[in-house]
Amino acid sequence: MHNFASKIINWQKVHGRHSLPWQNTHDPYAIWVSEIMLQQTQVAAVIGYYAKFMTRFSSIATLANATQDEVLQHWSGLGYYSRARNLHNAAQKIVDEHGGKFPQDFDAILALPGIGRSTAAAIASFALGYAQPIMDGNVKRVFARNFLIEGWPGLTKVEKKLWVLADELMPQTDMIAYTQGLMDLGATLCTSSKPKCMFCPLVETCGAYATNRVKELPTSKPRKVIPEKQTTMLILLSGNEVMLEKRPPTGIWGGLWSLPEISMTDIATEIAASRFGLEAEADNPQDVIRHVFTHFKLDITPQPLQVIAKPPQAHAANQVVWLPISEAITAAIPTPVRKILTQLR
Ligand code: ADE
Ligand code: SF4
Repeated sequence: MHNFASKIINWQKVHGRHSLPWQNTHDPYAIWVSEIMLQQTQVAAVIGYYAKFMTRFSSIATLANATQDEVLQHWSGLGYYSRARNLHNAAQKIVDEHGGKFPQDFDAILALPGIGRSTAAAIASFALGYAQPIMDGNVKRVFARNFLIEGWPGLTKVEKKLWVLADELMPQTDMIAYTQGLMDLGATLCTSSKPKCMFCPLVETCGAYATNRVKELPTSKPRKVIPEKQTTMLILLSGNEVMLEKRPPTGIWGGLWSLPEISMTDIATEIAASRFGLEAEADNPQDVIRHVFTHFKLDITPQPLQVIAKPPQAHAANQVVWLPISEAITAAIPTPVRKILTQLR
């Protein structure tokens, strides 16, 4: 075995994490759900969501039979909702095409929606013990530093180099400890800021440590200005109830319930009438709420409207529901919308 792999494995067995909720199982479903949640979310934030999700959707069949709305409701607050939609679609695909049993073939795992090469490899190693290398953000950082790989790891050319290395270094035994060890090392010692090289099993051979380049590697992404967007959200209130509108199935917050959005305060009453058949009077807009996505910042102006008349025949262009505010807060809604509704109470 390559010296690199044996150092990772020995270190993981002693110093790695051993009791995360998705460890100590070989159930591919339990591991799959955890890997999807962990794709863009930290372990600490995932733990609570994971427990609730697995309690409600305890099997592939249960998940496949649930409505998308309920799956999104359990994802509400975790962000990157295409993960939840893909997970749900993949569960249905497993039922339709694999008789409800998680596929054992690596290419079949990779063919499921929302599963790329690294996620497929993590599931295959943890659940099935397959020798398939992972390459997530943590591993990219460890490799770039240890092997002095130059260039932003998001570039195809750099990523290719990293995958070649990952293939070469892979052990043929102890895949679970190796895979977990790479994740653990990147998350606990070889962190982006203040890495703890003194405790690292690779310190004697680490290229970046030897050349004092730990701070410079991995090369960071070329900076782009994040565009700022503005929106105004309508808070249509009737008694103690607030109206939510289902968002289109794709794009930001796709399929979630949210407050209806308009671009300008002065057309708020017009929208209430033309879109919802309601006669309403605009209150002053509330303070701007800023929500930061990876690719842009969104400024939301919440615009309350008091409904004066709600004709029984009022009909909207999109599906709508009226919910008490306390109930709306627990629906499948985006985080900033939850913030706005919480402030209302
Ligand atoms: N990040 C991605 N997969 C993980 C796992 N299985 N354990 C801890 N962190 C992870
Ligand atoms: Fe990362 Fe430091 Fe270990 Fe090198 S010695 S792999 S920089 S923690």
